[in-house]
Amino acid sequence: MSKYIRAKITGNTPINKDHNLLVLSPDDIPQRPLPGQFYMIGTDCSYNPLLKRPFSIFRYNPPSPPFSKGGMGGFSEELQFLYRVKGRGTERMKEMKEGDTVSLLGPLGNGYPKPGKNLTPVLIAGGTGIASLFPLAEKLSGNVHFLYGARTSDELLLLSELKGLVKKELIISTDDGSEGRKGTVISALNNFLANQPSSASGGISHQLYACGPSPMLEAVSKFAAEKGIKGYISMEENMACGVGACLGCTVKTKKGYKRVCKEGPVFSAEEIVWI
Ligand SMILES: Cc1cc2nc3c(=O)[nH]c(=O)nc-3n(C[C@H](O)[C@H](O)[C@H](O)COP(=O)(O)OP(=O)(O)OC[C@H]3O[C@@H](n4cnc5c(N)ncnc54)[C@H](O)[C@@H]3O)c2cc1C
Ligand code: FES
Repeated sequence: MSKYIRAKITGNTPINKDHNLLVLSPDDIPQRPLPGQFYMIGTDCSYNPLLKRPFSIFRYNPPSPPFSKGGMGGFSEELQFLYRVKGRGTERMKEMKEGDTVSLLGPLGNGYPKPGKNLTPVLIAGGTGIASLFPLAEKLSGNVHFLYGARTSDELLLLSELKGLVKKELIISTDDGSEGRKGTVISALNNFLANQPSSASGGISHQLYACGPSPMLEAVSKFAAEKGIKGYISMEENMACGVGACLGCTVKTKKGYKRVCKEGPVFSAEEIVWI
């Protein structure tokens, strides 16, 4: 069950020119968030902006057990979000300081499903999609292939953390070639899968998980359909309520319109009708 909670900011640190890491100490965690779920974050009660904005859970740190090394009760629960400064809401978020309060609603949405039996997860992040897929890689103990693309090297985040975490292939790409492979993450995916043994020849079968800009998700979905690979995509739509009431976030699927905040944000790639 998700509910409104208040949280104190314990960190709001720039990690490059456009991105910050927001660390929150909430009053309460009604439910532990899962990778792929999100929170609606409101910058205090100033109603500026009026509407909360959706952000994927990047990290959830439960408190350490009583009498653990950290002392009695250890630290309190902590939620972390990685956000790109884009418009009015995130500009306001960036101005907020340690000790300020935000309001939260969550965790919301469905989160990523577990990989199928005998399927190797391939995670594909474009830009800030990394915020949603990094915790999935952590949950799967790094036993994933990870493809991560951005426009330029300046926009790549968490590279050293990814290198420490990912136990299979980590493929970095940038559109301008300033880091890793030159080209889009889709061309990196094409190349990666072309070099994998096919399942028909007794090789490994893959399951794709993607988060990033809409054109990238569309390309991943078409690619998965062409190759007959199971894929899940996390959709990013503008949201007003976050709880399924306003219908502002609907997407067309083969089974009618669905709400990204309620039935998503993670959908089976084959389900979405791209218009
Ligand atoms: C499930 C999900 C997870 C996400 N996770 C992340 C993440 O982890 N990190 C990250 O950086 N980004 C994430 N995003 C994207 C993030 O939510 C947007 O970048 C953010 O909302 C931008 O807000 P803004 O006010 O700065 O930008 P703006 O462009 O000013 O506003 C964002 C949108 O909100 C709508 N809006 C603004 N004001 C109103 C209004 N008065 N009435 C109606 N609509 C309005 C507009 O349609 C606008 O396009 C996620 C999005 C979704 C859906
Ligand atoms: S944001 Fe209101 S229904 Fe999804």
